[in-house]
Amino acid sequence: MVRIAPSLLASDFSKLGEEIDRVEKAGADMIHIDVMDGHFVPNITIGPPVVKSLRKVTKLPFDVHLMIENPELYIDSFIGAGADIISVHIENNYHLHRTLQHIREKGAKPSVVLNPATPLSTLDMVLADVDMVLLMTVNPGLGGQKYIESMTEKVRELRLMADRRGIKLDIEVDGGIGPDNIFTVTQAGANVVVAGSSVFNYQDAGENIRLLKQRACGGYI
Ligand code: DX5
Ligand code: ZN
Repeated sequence: MVRIAPSLLASDFSKLGEEIDRVEKAGADMIHIDVMDGHFVPNITIGPPVVKSLRKVTKLPFDVHLMIENPELYIDSFIGAGADIISVHIENNYHLHRTLQHIREKGAKPSVVLNPATPLSTLDMVLADVDMVLLMTVNPGLGGQKYIESMTEKVRELRLMADRRGIKLDIEVDGGIGPDNIFTVTQAGANVVVAGSSVFNYQDAGENIRLLKQRACGGYI
């Protein structure tokens, strides 16, 4: 079953609690929280205090995507604030294995993120140590960008790589995904789909999520 993770980046920051509430009621499976520090990516968003406040409004898993320098320094704070899954980028992690282990020891699910230009071969030594791989399907930093078509093949290859090794892996895709291309990524092997603008930028977030779920399985209305 494909899970939908609405990205709060596209929501109205003046009413985050209500935004979570409406996507939860509409069947969201987890909440994707984009953490940006203005260094790893040219944008600044939210940190542990906000995550902690939001923890009170929902029981949905928090899928925290760290786009920050020195992510290892902030893992305890984010888990303490209520993160359930922590995704760290492979590109800026000198001690990736240690970081992933640390996430697990502290009680969250470790996940690793690859930018579009980062090859799958970088996962070779950590694939068995993660619960999820997050493949960026746009360059990180902003919502509302266009899906990079060549990422479909990357998703397909990652699913093959995991299957060949007998690893039951969640493959999450992030960026530029909406009702028109969700089936492309799920068919290729993604089973967790982040959706920012395609959920929040239109009036009825509930209807958008229902549509994404339906199309994710190849259904059309
Ligand atoms: C981009 C973020 C994404 C983004 C997705 O750096 O990681 O989560 O919010 O937004 P859409 O779905 O609008 O591309
Ligand atoms: Zn993200």
